[in-house]
Amino acid sequence: MWHKIKELTDKHGYMSGVDRMSDRVQKTGEIFTPTDLVIQILKEIDINKFAPGKTIIDPTCGDGQFLVPVKWLKVLHFNMTEEDALKDIYGVDIMRDNVDLCKKRLGGGNIFMGNTLAPDIRLDEQTEYEHEQMIEHFAGNTLDI
Ligand SMILES: C[S@@+](CC[C@H](N)C(=O)[O-])C[C@H]1O[C@@H](n2cnc3c(N)ncnc32)[C@H](O)[C@@H]1O
Repeated sequence: MWHKIKELTDKHGYMSGVDRMSDRVQKTGEIFTPTDLVIQILKEIDINKFAPGKTIIDPTCGDGQFLVPVKWLKVLHFNMTEEDALKDIYGVDIMRDNVDLCKKRLGGGNIFMGNTLAPDIRLDEQTEYEHEQMIEHFAGNTLDI
């Protein structure tokens, strides 16, 4: 199963799809976790934490290096549909293109543009819905997961 999860995750090339200049990387810390390391980390976690209905959130999700394998873990181990697995998956990133790429890789999911450290601040390219979601889920440190 883990081999299949790696294969599905690596369909998207590591750190590809967005032109990340070095000054941007320095500012945002956009060094994504390589798939082998993500899988090593996921294997250390009690698999039942990924069972149907268990919410998984990456508050700095980048292009989805963690969330993509988590989706496939829910599908392959727990026989969830992709649609149901995505209902359990949440991600936030401050960069519009990362959010869009993450969502594309996942095929959906609750992926929002936002500043996890200042959730109520409205960002330029953030949609009104994303802003509402950031406030609902993160403002006042009342993470309802
Ligand atoms: C080190 S990468 C990690 C990405 C992913 N979690 C992974 O392990 O591959 C950090 C990500 O956090 C985003 N980021 C930086 N500051 C943020 C903030 N205040 N709120 C939300 N996302 C932020 C960056 O755009 C970048 O994509």
